[in-house]
Amino acid sequence: MPQFDDRLLTKRVVESFSQTPNERQRFLMVELVITLHDFVRRTDLTFEEWSSAIDFLTRTGQKCTPTRQEFILLSDVLGVSMLVDAINHREREGATGTTVLGPFYVGEHKEVPNGSDISTGLSGKPMFVCARVTAPDGAPVANAIADIWHADDEGFYDTQKPSHATGNGSLRARFRTDAGGRLAFRTILPCSYPIPTDGPVGELIRASSRHAMRPAHVHFLVNAEGFEPLVTHVFLEGDDYLDSDVVFGVKEELVCKAERNDGAVMPDGRKASGPWYRMTYDFRVRPGTGHVPQPLAAGTD
Ligand code: BEZ
Ligand code: FE
Repeated sequence: MPQFDDRLLTKRVVESFSQTPNERQRFLMVELVITLHDFVRRTDLTFEEWSSAIDFLTRTGQKCTPTRQEFILLSDVLGVSMLVDAINHREREGATGTTVLGPFYVGEHKEVPNGSDISTGLSGKPMFVCARVTAPDGAPVANAIADIWHADDEGFYDTQKPSHATGNGSLRARFRTDAGGRLAFRTILPCSYPIPTDGPVGELIRASSRHAMRPAHVHFLVNAEGFEPLVTHVFLEGDDYLDSDVVFGVKEELVCKAERNDGAVMPDGRKASGPWYRMTYDFRVRPGTGHVPQPLAAGTD
C-alpha cells in the first residue's frame, strides 16, 4: 500500500481517470482536478470553508426546479456563462455580438404579424422597435424568425407576475422578417431589474456587497435557415447599470439609443398620447448552423 503523500495526491487522482473511455471527458476531469487541487493549496482552505462551500452548492441544487435553474444563475453571476459564450463564438467577424439567454425565455413564442403591439393593456412609455436581419455583407435575410421578450416598466417579466396566464404572454412574441429582412413591433420601454435573489445566489450577491441589477434590455433570439442562431440583447443607452451588469452580459455594440419622438402618430398609424420612443437595430447573422438554445420548462419561479 503506498504511503499517503499530499505532494503526490494530485498526480494519483489524475491517474485514476486514465482509463476514462471518452477522451474529452478524461481531459475535462483531469483539468478540473488539477485546478481544484491548486485552488485548495493556494487558499489553504479550512474545514469550515470547505463545508460551507458544500452547503452552498447543496442548497443551490435544492433551489432548482423545472422552472428555476439556480446553477445557471450561479454560472451567470460568476461570469462563467459569458465566458463559455465568448469561447464558443470566437469567429464572429461581421456578425452581431452574442450574450446570455437568461432564464425568462419560455420558447416557441406565438408568431404575430409585423407591427403588432406586444404591450396591450400595460402602462409604460410607448416604444416602437424597427429591426433588420442581414447577412454580414448587408444582404437582407427574409423569413428569419425572431423571438423577442423583455421586462415591463417595473422590471418584471410576464412569467414573474401572479396575473400570468398560460396564454400568449405579454412583452414577448415571435416575428418573421419580410423580404427586406425587416421586422417591427410596438411595445413599452423596459427598465432595469434585479435577477432572482431569493436563493443562494442572492445570498452570495449580498455577502459580496454586489448589486443584483441588469441594465434595461430587449432579448432577441434570431433563427434563420442557413445561419447560426443569434442569442442577444439590445440594451438601452443611458441605463445606470450598463457598466456593472450583474451577469457581465453588456457589449458596447449592443447598446442602442431609444430616440424620443414627439410626433402625434406612431409608425403603426396609432395616435400617440405623449412622447414615444423608437429603437432601431440591425442584426447581422453568421452563415452556418448551430445549437438552438432550449428554454427551461416555463420561465422562472
Ligand atoms: C435576463 O436577462 O433575463 C437574465 C439573464 C441572466 C440571469 C438572470 C436574468
Ligand atoms: Fe432579461
